[in-house]
Amino acid sequence: QQQLNPSQDYAGIRILITAGPTREPIDPVRYLSNHSSGKMGYALAQAAQQAGAKVTLVSGPVNLTPPAGVAVVKVMSALEMHHAATSRSAEHDIFIGCAAVADYRPESVADNKIKKSNDELVVKMVKNPDILADIANSEPRPFCVGFAAETQDVEHYAKDKLTRKKLDLIAANDVAKTGQGFNAEHNSLTVFSKTDAIHIPLASKLDVANALLSLVLIHYKK
Ligand code: CTP
Ligand code: CA
Repeated sequence: QQQLNPSQDYAGIRILITAGPTREPIDPVRYLSNHSSGKMGYALAQAAQQAGAKVTLVSGPVNLTPPAGVAVVKVMSALEMHHAATSRSAEHDIFIGCAAVADYRPESVADNKIKKSNDELVVKMVKNPDILADIANSEPRPFCVGFAAETQDVEHYAKDKLTRKKLDLIAANDVAKTGQGFNAEHNSLTVFSKTDAIHIPLASKLDVANALLSLVLIHYKK
């Protein structure tokens, strides 16, 4: 497994990373979210910083200490994350979308706490903008790396995201496998480019981050 040369390989390279979940408010006291811990994105930020990169981490709400030397922008909702990331992407060489962005948000946020009344509550959801696709279609465009969390047909769905969102690389993880993915300490990935697929075997998220960054560097420099 390839590993980065600490403090050298990414010298002078600016990396923007999104990490963690987003929270989509329903009313002043409630939100919809997911189980993302942010660990993979924070590991990527730490590994990149240690390899000499200038790192900006746009982070949803997580229980993690930001890695030293990393500029952190804290956000809550997908719309906030979208603004924080897209407004900074032109100043970065590489974008890695590691966040588990909520695909939908409640159409409107109630001004007051919704009172319990009927037996059913219907919350209408509308689609959030796709941060990764928007950055991949922007100009100037950083080198774009996506993640694909899948529970089935991992290769098919990951490659579909690679072409549909016009990405340079996509790192797929099978979140259905036990002990990896959301909220786990370890992870394994299969990284697809247009032409090849490379497997990063199960390891700590920091080791997987280093391996992914060394692959990213090879493709970035091509
Ligand atoms: N992503 C994003 N903004 C969104 C949704 C997803 O930037 N609104 C990014 C994620 O950070 C990830 C990639 O897109 O890098 C793929 O996310 P994923 O949820 O696997 O794919 P989706 O395109 O949302 O499709 P689906 O959830 O239906 O699989
Ligand atoms: Ca999604």
